[in-house]
Amino acid sequence: MPQLELFSTSPVSRKDAGAYYTPDHVVWSLVRWAVRSEADLMLDPACGDGRFISSHAHSIGVERDRQAAAVAKQRSPLSRVHSGDFFDWAAITSERFDCAAGNPPFIRYQTFSGEVRERAFRLSAKLGADFTGLTASWAPFLVVTASLLRLGGRMAFVVPAAIGHAPYAAPLLEYLIGNFATVQIVAVREKFFPELSEDCWLLYADGHGGATEEIRFSVVDWFALSAEPPRQAASVPVAEWRRTWNRRLRPYLLNDSIRRIYQSIAIRQDSRAFGDLATIGIGYVSGANRFFHLRPSEADFWRIPEDYLQPTVRNGKVLPDRELTVDTIRAWLRRDQPMMLLRVPKTAQLPRSVANYLATEQGRRARQAYKCRMRHPWYSVPDVKVPDFFLTYMSGRAPSLVRNSASATCTNALHAVRVHREGDVDLILRRWSSPFVRLSCELEGHPLGGGMLKLEPREAARIVLPCTEKISTDALIEIDEGASVMRAWRHYPMERWN
Ligand SMILES: C[S@@+](CC[C@H](N)C(=O)[O-])C[C@H]1O[C@@H](n2cnc3c(N)ncnc32)[C@H](O)[C@@H]1O
Repeated sequence: MPQLELFSTSPVSRKDAGAYYTPDHVVWSLVRWAVRSEADLMLDPACGDGRFISSHAHSIGVERDRQAAAVAKQRSPLSRVHSGDFFDWAAITSERFDCAAGNPPFIRYQTFSGEVRERAFRLSAKLGADFTGLTASWAPFLVVTASLLRLGGRMAFVVPAAIGHAPYAAPLLEYLIGNFATVQIVAVREKFFPELSEDCWLLYADGHGGATEEIRFSVVDWFALSAEPPRQAASVPVAEWRRTWNRRLRPYLLNDSIRRIYQSIAIRQDSRAFGDLATIGIGYVSGANRFFHLRPSEADFWRIPEDYLQPTVRNGKVLPDRELTVDTIRAWLRRDQPMMLLRVPKTAQLPRSVANYLATEQGRRARQAYKCRMRHPWYSVPDVKVPDFFLTYMSGRAPSLVRNSASATCTNALHAVRVHREGDVDLILRRWSSPFVRLSCELEGHPLGGGMLKLEPREAARIVLPCTEKISTDALIEIDEGASVMRAWRHYPMERWN
């Protein structure tokens, strides 16, 4: 049955509803593992077109999309299907289940909002899982589903690979290890949903009412039909996951040897966290880029005084490899690039030329822009820093750290890095260009889809800068291999590696 033609839902609303349906071999495998007897009552909390419940008639499906719920009813006539919000239903149902299986909706925090989210967070908090506002829908879905299981019950779900790195996944995993005798995560490199940027992994939790001190973690290139989760699994001690790896599972994609070498170097006394040496923050937001970024020819035309213009880097693509120099800026100026930020201090007595520029039609439009309306005065761009380094935070092969020798500033397309002590600029530069730091960026950052690695400021602060001279060549070779492994997991194309 062609799954998507069944619904009138457009691609956009499908994305907003987190409505991507699971391939048959995955459905079969998860249901076969979860259901141990014909009499078992199974729950799918977000049953879509009913593909999980139709594999086991003694089941209940919940689905918010009315049309999808109707298809589910047709497809699995012996199952019961509730049309409505899962959290609404979960708050009042007295049903309890032997098992649960499915694929919860992945609705990002930006769109997971309103009453549904309120209810999801309230129910989860009552169960002891406190989620922050940055949580995507699937995490509370799984906590609340788990709470509806009988003693000894189990659940098997498709989960976003964010379970391996997102801070909001930690309360979910804490909940699972506190409420199940075994918890196994299967990292799958092959994409279940090629049209989605996010990878999916699998979760198996068994023995509801128990607790465990380990997370079993399997790493596979692809997932083959199987009634059991992969037998081969590393045992991740919960204490190590919490303390050493900041409650992330991604480091366990590496083999033991690489992980141990990495950790032994990271804890050396002379290794430093980037955040101990520097403050990493975002660049400024002008609110009206075209207006605030002038070409030299425009600045000349309006006779803007030099004091009111600051050279700026508007994106990572224009940055040289290691150092931004005055010569680079001169070259930009010669090409008449729009790279002069109009920088007007809040309290400045406006020179007539600047006042004229602000009064142009373009200026009148700029002051209507949301960010400009929200600040006073509207023309004074806040948080303009002249950092010691620029750091790219959406990277292909690896993030670049570029020294700022040109007193330039940068927009929020880059991170602005300011060292705490002047003397550390050279130390940071020397240490940055090591395979160890590349691996550290992979472990502290997170995949963004399309082969890209993203580094939030708090993630960048955790990057470890070791004393490279003290690392053996053998260790560096393994570390380098580790960085390649992590790049492969974020689908960075092999052919670009050289
Ligand atoms: C990823 S799809 C999975 C469907 C099916 N379980 C499968 O794996 O093929 C998620 C489903 O959750 C539904 N959904 C989203 N929010 C919901 C909510 N609050 N309550 C119930 N269902 C919801 C969507 O309409 C969508 O059909």
